[in-house]
Order: sequence, then structure tokens, then C-alpha cells
Amino acid sequence: MSLKNDLFLRTANGELTERPPVWLMRQAGRILPQYRKIRSSLNGFKDLLMHPELAAEVTIQPVDELGVDAAIIFSDILVIPEAMGLHYNMVEKRGPLFPKTITSKADIEKLDFGNSAADKLEYVFEALDFTVKNLDKRVPLIGFSGAPWTLFAYMIEGSGSKTFSKAKKFLYQEPEASHLLLEKITETIIAYLKLKIRHGVDLVQIFDSWAGILSPDQYKEFGLPYIAQICSAIRRVPITVFAKGAWFALDQIGELDCQVVGLDWNTYPSVAREVLGDKRVVQGNADPCLLYSNPENIREQTIKMIKEFGHHHIVNLGHGVYPDTPLDNVKAFVQTVKEFSYKV
Ligand code: CP3
Repeated sequence: MSLKNDLFLRTANGELTERPPVWLMRQAGRILPQYRKIRSSLNGFKDLLMHPELAAEVTIQPVDELGVDAAIIFSDILVIPEAMGLHYNMVEKRGPLFPKTITSKADIEKLDFGNSAADKLEYVFEALDFTVKNLDKRVPLIGFSGAPWTLFAYMIEGSGSKTFSKAKKFLYQEPEASHLLLEKITETIIAYLKLKIRHGVDLVQIFDSWAGILSPDQYKEFGLPYIAQICSAIRRVPITVFAKGAWFALDQIGELDCQVVGLDWNTYPSVAREVLGDKRVVQGNADPCLLYSNPENIREQTIKMIKEFGHHHIVNLGHGVYPDTPLDNVKAFVQTVKEFSYKV
């Protein structure tokens, strides 16, 4: 059976469409009262991840409530470090915390990786199966992974950080061990994404959330080559590469063998078009804080952005939607895109 709404996939594959598709990073989450209700009945965020039927339910909530053109599986990028052997806790109001981190080459040698690590993520695959069944081909389903560098950053740092200086210090002091760890992470990501595709995802997005804290030379050595490996290993579905803060590497990202380039809100649409060309499919890039404004202004700014990018554009924010964003403003954003036509 084919998709009822395939606008997102047609755009990702480079076709010209009647309007741009729209979805929001972090659309499955605390902006929705339905999510908060399910979440409060459980013992924290990880408990929700481990309940595949509920994870599927919150994946579908934004499709019902917001009318977005794609669903993204409810999960987290940190499931991979955990499958490789580094347990983490999601601490309320603080974010992820790893009790044990990687501090040496010996730690890296002990990690599980590749297929045997990916196979442990059965709860994610079960959530995908439930989602595929209940979504019933209404919209495409996005699968995702953290990029190797971003996962490396959490595995060394052990938590979020403004600077990730521990992780960057490791790159400078232990370049060889760093490459070994990045290779193991990359192999695990590839195995994991292939399994996600087997369980029905229609596109995969690579989140390189901490790309922007590396210097251009470091990103060239420790970031991009591993993303390139993932792009050449994943052939069956389109790929989106979202490297937040990596505007300095936009030309190199544009050369990756991926279908969509994700942009954060610090990039001018006109500059992105100049670097990437008019035919490259881009995704983004409204400032998440625009949604604290009012529906009229949201509408104006969103139309301005759509016109600036032109065709071959998937509308999204430049990063995840903030949990305290007024729901009516999120709806105004989505509705604006759905009412837009390139012809008018
Ligand atoms: O709707 C979606 O986009 C799908 C779900 C999704 C989550 N995390 C759910 C989540 C996705 C795609 C992610 C990816 C993710 N996780 C990234 C990459 C994207 C980005 O934001 O840069 C990163 C860096 C993480 C790691 C992570 N997970 C952090 C730093 C936090 C804490 C911050 C926060 O928002 O609370 C999380 C927790 C998390 N992941 C939540 C959700 C809905 C909040 C959990 C809750 O309900 O309390």
C-alpha cells in the first residue's frame, strides 16, 4: 500500500511539489498535553522509551494534533551509547547523565559495537512496528541517529556541556583512540539504521547537534568523514544530515551523498542557496523562539522563509521545538505552511 501523504518524501527525493512539507524536530514531546499525560503516568523519560506501544502512541500524537507531514519515531540518540555499554540516566530538568564515561583507549576496547550492539535495541524496533501499524501509511515515518561526533561527545563528556571541552581535549590528546571510538560508533549507527529501515522507516536523519563546537579542521577530520561513511552505507532510503552550528562546513556538507541538508536558524536562506545551489533539498530553519511570538508574526516570518528558500525545501525549525512553546503558535506555524502554494 502506498502512502496517503507522500509530500515529504517527494520533496526529499528532489521532486517539485505544490507546497513545502512541514514537521518539527522534537514534535513528539512536552508541547503536547497528550504527551505530558502519558509521561506523567510513567517513571520518567526512559520508561517511556522502554514501552514500545506508548512510544508509538506519542510518535503519532503530533500527526493527529498538528497535522504535520511526517512522523519521527519517539526515541533518543543516546540509546546507541547505552547499547555499546555506557548506561545513562535522564535527570529531570538537567538532561542526560552518564555515571561512567570513556577516559582511555582501554575503555574503548571494552565497548560492544556494530550488529551485536544494535541488536540490543529491540525496544526501538518494536516501537517502530507498532508505529508502522497504527500510523497506517498516513504520513512517512522518520528514523534517526546521532552523528558519530555528537555521540562521542556525550560518551566522553558524560553529560551536556556548553563547551564539551573534555570531549575536545580527548580529540587533541588521543587522536588515534578518538578515531577508534568514532569508527566503533559509526559501525553501530550503520547497523542500527539498517535495522530501523527493515522495520519500516522511510527516511533517516542524522543529528550532529554538537558539530558547531568543533573547529573547521577538527570537523573535517573527526566529523564529516564518519557521516560520509554512513551516507555511503545507507542506500535504501533518503538521508537528512543536520549538523547544527556547522555553517563553516556548509560547502562540504553539500558534497555529502545525502538527499537533504538540515539548516539551523543561524544560516541565511540566501547564503545557504548560494553555497548549496537551488536544487539541493534543504530543511529548516525558523528560529524555535519565533514560536513564542504571535500567530500573525509567525505567519509572516514563515512565508518570508518559504519564499527565500524557494522549491526543494522542507519546512522545520532550526532546532527542536522548546517544550514550553504555546501549542496554538505551533499550530499557526504548521497551518501557514499547509495553506501555502508555490503558484500564488
Ligand atoms: O519528536 C522528535 O523529534 C523525536 C524524539 C527525539 C527525542 N530526542 C526525544 C526526547 C529526538 C529526535 C531526540 C534527539 C536527541 N536527543 C538529540 C538530537 C537533537 C537535538 O536536540 O540536538 C539530542 C542532543 C538528544 C539528547 C537529549 N535527550 C537531551 C540533551 C535531552 C534533555 C533535554 C530535554 O529536552 O529535556 C533529551 C531528552 C529528550 N529526548 C526529551 C524528549 C521528548 C525530553 C524528555 C522528557 O519528556 O522529559
